[in-house]
Amino acid sequence: MEKKQELYAGKAKSVFATDNEDFVILSFRDDTSAFDGERIEQLSRKGEVNNKFNAFIMEYLAKAGIPTHFEKLLNGTESLVKNMNMIPVECVVRNVASGSLVRRLGVEDGMELSPPIFEFFLKNDALHDPMVNEFHIETFGWASADSVIKMKELTFKVNAELKKLFADAGLILVDYKLEFGLFKGDVILGDEFSPDGCRLWDAETREKLDKDRFRQGLGGVIEAYEEVARRIGVPL
Ligand code: TYD
Repeated sequence: MEKKQELYAGKAKSVFATDNEDFVILSFRDDTSAFDGERIEQLSRKGEVNNKFNAFIMEYLAKAGIPTHFEKLLNGTESLVKNMNMIPVECVVRNVASGSLVRRLGVEDGMELSPPIFEFFLKNDALHDPMVNEFHIETFGWASADSVIKMKELTFKVNAELKKLFADAGLILVDYKLEFGLFKGDVILGDEFSPDGCRLWDAETREKLDKDRFRQGLGGVIEAYEEVARRIGVPL
C-alpha cells in the first residue's frame, strides 16, 4: 500500500493517507507529551517501542475476540490501521486508585478498586479533557447510546484480558485509557495501547513502569517501557 499525504499530527503520532481510503498509516514519533501537551520532549526509541508494543497488544486483543483497527506492522515506527471515524471520548478503567482520581476525590493512592471504576473523558486538550458521562455524550452527539454501551462492554473485556496478561508478568494494570471509532458502522478499538496511556506497577516493588516516570521526572522512561515489553514477550 502506498503512503500518501499526512492527514493529521497528534501529540505523539501522525496519521498518513494511503491509496486505499479504508486504511491509514499510524506513525509513532519519539515525542512525549504530558499535562495536555504543555510539556513535550523527545525520548529516543519511544516511537519504535510504542509501535511494537501496541501491535503486540492489539493482536493479543484481536485473538481474544475484541475488534480493533490494527492490520499489520509496516516497519519499526509505522503500522497500517483501518481508517475509522474516531469517537471523541476516552474510556478509562481503574483497578487501583491513582492520578486524577486521587486528586479529584482525595482517596488513597494505591487503594484497590473493587469493582473497578469506569470513567469517560472528553478528548479536548484546551478544556483539559474534562470528565463527562453518558448523557453529555448522547446529548452533544459524540456517540450514540448503542455505541456508548459497546465502548463500555469492550473496555471491560480489555480489562479482563490485559489484567491477566500483565499479572502473569508480575505487573499490576493500575488504569488505562482506550479510544474507539466507527468503521463501516461497527465500534472498534482504535488509537494505541502502550505505557503512554496506562499505569503499570511492578507487583512486588510497586515501581512505576509507565508514563508517570515522565510526568514525575523519574527518568528511565523508555527503559521502563522496554522492561514491560520484555516481561510480556513483545519482540523489540
Ligand atoms: P487520569 O488519572 O485520569 O489522568 P492523569 O494521567 O492526568 O492523572 O488517567 C487515567 C489513565 O488514563 C492513566 O493511565 C492515563 C490515561 N489517560 C491518557 O493516557 N490520556 C488522557 O487524556 C486521559 C484522561 C487519561
